[in-house]
Amino acid sequence: MRSSAIIGTGSYLPDQILTNFDLEKMVETSNEWILKMTGISERRIADETMATSDLSIRAARQAIKSADIDPLEIDMIIVGTATPDSVFPSTACSVQNGIGAKNASSFDLSAACSGFVYGLDLADGMIKSSRYDTILVIGAEIFSRIVDWEERSTCVLFGDAAGAAVIQVSEEPGILASYCGADGAYADAELLGIPAGGSRMPANAATVDQKLHTVKMRGQEIFKLAVRIMPEAAQKALDTAGVSIDQIDLVIPHQANSRIIEAVVDRIGIDPAKMYVNLNQYGNTSAASVIVALDEAIREKQAKIGDLILLTVFGAGLTWGSALIQL
Ligand code: ACO
Repeated sequence: MRSSAIIGTGSYLPDQILTNFDLEKMVETSNEWILKMTGISERRIADETMATSDLSIRAARQAIKSADIDPLEIDMIIVGTATPDSVFPSTACSVQNGIGAKNASSFDLSAACSGFVYGLDLADGMIKSSRYDTILVIGAEIFSRIVDWEERSTCVLFGDAAGAAVIQVSEEPGILASYCGADGAYADAELLGIPAGGSRMPANAATVDQKLHTVKMRGQEIFKLAVRIMPEAAQKALDTAGVSIDQIDLVIPHQANSRIIEAVVDRIGIDPAKMYVNLNQYGNTSAASVIVALDEAIREKQAKIGDLILLTVFGAGLTWGSALIQL
């Protein structure tokens, strides 16, 4: 039986920092409120000359370097994103050109904040099917371009980032289990999404005036769904691999909100010290969140060779997923 493993990771965080104190000057909010309600102190904002593929290319180059492979070895590129460079062509095609991975089929994957774990699950299946050997999976977002900077309940939450992982066929299993789920009964752009700019509500002067191209969210409903879904998703990967939560070295949850993460800690019964959280510095970076955190944990040596790492995510759609990885 063929297995797959993560053989290299990388990430890119734009230099510009937007703090809660900066936001106090932009909307009626306070550092205290944002910290207490979300756990976020600051977030990164991409330079206006950059698109999502530019962030992705930087993260991908790092992942390729840490995997010590030639870009020509990559036979598929998957970019999980809710903020592609444009509706089409795909962001992944620009990444393919940017890193010189001429042998890779390339496409974007739309699963909102679950995009990276969906990509990982797909890559694992593609490698096990023997069709592909080396797949680059990216989670990348520039949410600063799609939030309404006058809407205090959403603009304080998000940040820009990209993370990348090279997944390759391996004799030793590295991805021990992965799982994806969805419930389209919640596919409501007012619950969590962007109402206009697609085929249902094409862009026109009225949609621009009404700011229907920016993120809408009913926060409390999302909160309740997230605290139920993320622990359930985590348990699925554990059950598939026959591993108990006590054996896990590090849990990397989607970095949406510290209160959601605290609820996940309670429900899955893990030592809070084993929960990796970097939300305070970067905010919610959607599809980039768990792969940026994994890359950071590896670089900080909080995640080491042989460790068992559990990812659990949820996003608009609704979508959710989990992955159990042995480094
Ligand atoms: N600063 C100060 N006050 C604020 C702010 C702010 N930034 N935002 C909202 N408020 C106010 C509201 O105006 C409201 O005031 P009112 O009572 O005078 O009308 C009050 O706070 C409560 O507003 P709610 O929107 O009901 O706030 P809530 O308690 O739900 O907290 C929050 C908002 C933090 C977003 C919460 O709903 C939440 O954590 N939701 C989880 C959703 C989430 O994290 N989504 C991330 C994106 S989704 C994803 O990653 C898949």
